[in-house]
Amino acid sequence: MTVSWGILGAGRIAESQMAPAISAAPGHELIAVTRRDLAAAQQFADKHGARRAYDSDEALLADPQVNAVYVATPPHLHARQARLAAQAGKHILCEKPLALDTGEAQRMIDAARANNVDLTVCYYQRFNARHQRIKALLAAGAIGQVTAARISFSERFPPQPGVWHHDPAISGGGPLMDLGVHCIDLIRYFCGPVQSVAALVDTLVDSSPVADTATLLLRHEGGAQTVVTSHWTTANHDPERFNRVEIYGAEGTIVAAPIQAKDSAGTLQLITAEGIQDFSVEPGGPRPHLALLESFAAAVAGKSPNPIPGEEGLAGLAVVEAARESARSGRRIELA
Ligand SMILES: NC(=O)c1ccc[n+]([C@@H]2O[C@H](COP(=O)([O-])OP(=O)(O)OC[C@H]3O[C@@H](n4cnc5c(N)ncnc54)[C@H](OP(=O)(O)O)[C@@H]3O)[C@@H](O)[C@H]2O)c1
Repeated sequence: MTVSWGILGAGRIAESQMAPAISAAPGHELIAVTRRDLAAAQQFADKHGARRAYDSDEALLADPQVNAVYVATPPHLHARQARLAAQAGKHILCEKPLALDTGEAQRMIDAARANNVDLTVCYYQRFNARHQRIKALLAAGAIGQVTAARISFSERFPPQPGVWHHDPAISGGGPLMDLGVHCIDLIRYFCGPVQSVAALVDTLVDSSPVADTATLLLRHEGGAQTVVTSHWTTANHDPERFNRVEIYGAEGTIVAAPIQAKDSAGTLQLITAEGIQDFSVEPGGPRPHLALLESFAAAVAGKSPNPIPGEEGLAGLAVVEAARESARSGRRIELA
């Protein structure tokens, strides 16, 4: 089955990553796109080979040739668009964060289930070849029992005119909902579900309605203690080095950077009593977006499970909400 895509919100991420990935992926085609301005939508369609351009969600969702949509608008629109897409019988690949909060995320999951379509979260870094290697190394017991980890994704990102990320009604708020959700998803992927959360979430530098600096301490089922740092207030002059994951076990250590590569490129070392094994990937390596599309296609064809179901996006948002509650109350929050 060919996956025939409509893109809701053909903006920056659709332009830089997903439209080129759809063009490059066998068994995928780009049928239609939306932007608020029809001429801009048409321009995007022409550039990326989409057959039609629309300026409304409803028009794209009524297109009978479209059987899946990529929701690539800012977070405040995800829940409504996913519900409409589900009701139109389209499978959904939704950008992160899945929604503004867990309530919205649950309603998206319910709508997908009620309409018998897949809802997949676009946590493409699960498909980074180095991250899949880490997962396999952990499963093989390469560092023994995992006891601790640290993951960081930060940058200096002050408020700027015309940029929605500092508007909590649109973004859901701050680096936690932007960069932190990637960290939380990856650390859950590596270390398993999160059981308890303690956090500091502060506004330290900019005059912004959102908190700009967040540090989370998590305990995972199985006991591992992990630290997530996600800031918009730390100058990061070497993101290839500082956006990194370190995983510590009773018998060894795994270190990898960066966590945001679009071609899996970067370092990965396994350090044990036997020495250092290097699994680094050179630039031009496997593209996570292509692997995600391949998995998505297999899932909607009924050949394999949904690779990153909506429940995974909801679980990440539950950690964000627990972190905020912990920061507010000064207590550690237990997740059910
Ligand atoms: N996975 C990743 O690494 C990654 C990276 C970047 C972004 N993202 C996520 O992708 C999503 C989009 O981010 P982006 O940077 O691509 O955003 P963007 O370029 O600012 O906007 C994306 C699209 O949404 C439309 N849009 C923006 N604000 C709107 C509003 N108030 N009402 C209706 N439509 C609106 C834009 O419309 P116009 O075209 O008409 O302007 C554009 O088509 C977000 O959820 C973001 O967190 C993910």
